[in-house]
Formats: sequence, C-alpha cells, structure tokens
Amino acid sequence: MEVVIAPAGELAALAAGAVEELLRARPDAVLGLATGSSPLAVYDELARRHKDGLSFSRARAFMLDEYVGLPADHPERYRNVIEKEIASRVDFAPGAVQGPDGLADDLAAACAGYEAAIADAGGVDLQILGIGTDGHIAFNEPGSSLASRTRIKTLTRQTREDNARFFGGSVDDVPRHCLTQGLATIMEARHLVLLASGRAKAEAVHQLVEGPVSAMWPATIMQLHPHATVLVDDAAASRLQ
Ligand code: F6R
Repeated sequence: MEVVIAPAGELAALAAGAVEELLRARPDAVLGLATGSSPLAVYDELARRHKDGLSFSRARAFMLDEYVGLPADHPERYRNVIEKEIASRVDFAPGAVQGPDGLADDLAAACAGYEAAIADAGGVDLQILGIGTDGHIAFNEPGSSLASRTRIKTLTRQTREDNARFFGGSVDDVPRHCLTQGLATIMEARHLVLLASGRAKAEAVHQLVEGPVSAMWPATIMQLHPHATVLVDDAAASRLQ
C-alpha cells in the first residue's frame, strides 16, 4: 500500500492525475465513483481537466453504494449526487454511469444484477474511495465480511450521524439501509485510490495503514490489495506511527 501525505489541496490533483493517466492510456476504462465529501475536490479537478480536453466519452463508471428508499428526485440520492458532482460536468455517454438501484422492488436481485454489470464491463480499473470514521469503505460497516459482495446493509448510528450534515443535520432523515458493493467486490478493482482528510479520520487511517486486517475495521482489507494508494492530509495522518 502506498501512503502519500500531502496538503489537502494536492490530494485531489494526485487522484485526478491517476484518473487522467488511465483515461489517456485507455479511453474506455471503467471508473469506480464514491460519494461523500472526500472525492468532491477530485471531481472538481476532473471537470476542470475535461474543459482542457480530457474525455470520458468512451469510459464507464460504477458507483459504490446507494441509500435504500430515497425518492428518485431526492438531492441526496447518490445517483443524483454523482450526476451533479461529476457525470453532468464531463462527457460520459448516456447510460455510462451506473449505480445500485435503491428503489428496486427486489433489492437482492438488484444487487446480483449490479455485480453482473460490473463483471460484464470487465471490472473496475480505478476505484475512488473515501473512508468512514468507523473504518467503512463504501458502506461496508464494521463486522462486514471480508468476502462480501454487493448487498443490503444497515447503516451504523455513527455513519448516520456523520451523514446527517447532508440531511439538514437531522439524523432521523438519514436512511437506515443502503445497497453497497462488498469488500470482495471492491478488492477486484485493479487500482484503489482512497482519500481522507481531517482529524476525524485519523483513527480510521491509523487502522487502515497500521492495524491488523479485521472485519471490525473493514478498510484494512486494502492492505491485501496489490495496488492501493492512500492519499491523506496531515490531520488524517496524525495518528500514523
Ligand atoms: C460514499 C461512501 C462512503 C464515504 C465515507 C466517507 O459513497 O462510499 O464510504 O466515502 O462515508 O464520507 P466522507 O467523504 O463524506 O467523509
């Protein structure tokens, strides 16, 4: 695992640089997109590079996760967040960005179908990740099987409190369930790029980099990945030995 400690402003450029390098070499690459605060500056940087000529027209992308049950037009539905923050700002072809369907009648079938769609696309080339304060990646909360695939998960109280800021500060408005790629699904991506900034992430980053691999800190499975890049600012790195 490669750990880069840099000022917050530089982390986004490093992640966007990895995406650009991939797309220049393989214009039809498959990207993995995260939501939350951590990748927002990366998406800003990719939108800027798109204006400078970087094309996504032959690329595809898969989202990590989605809330269950949020109405189709809800601004915090991850499909809508990704559309606003990146998809609408670059030139993905129609239908090129997919996410798990949190409104499906049969959620288990939607999860299985999503796994099949990723496999049919040839797998994810570069997966952007954030990390939860409890060590989750995607919404694989503590206790998630290290062999897990896309499935329904219950969000922890901690994650719902962390995400209440996106719901007007009301934890009761944060959905209780989500669909999320599993840890084994994420581990099949060929390059993992995780971003973390701020002191609130310091313990999770310490466990990710220096803790034992454990389902109680799900991100630690990244230690077993052959090509994982961890981009952290000084505050998020403050508990590293
Ligand atoms: C979101 C996701 C989550 C977030 C994590 C960190 O798609 O997969 O794992 O990356 O909750 O969220 P932020 O970046 O908002 O601190």
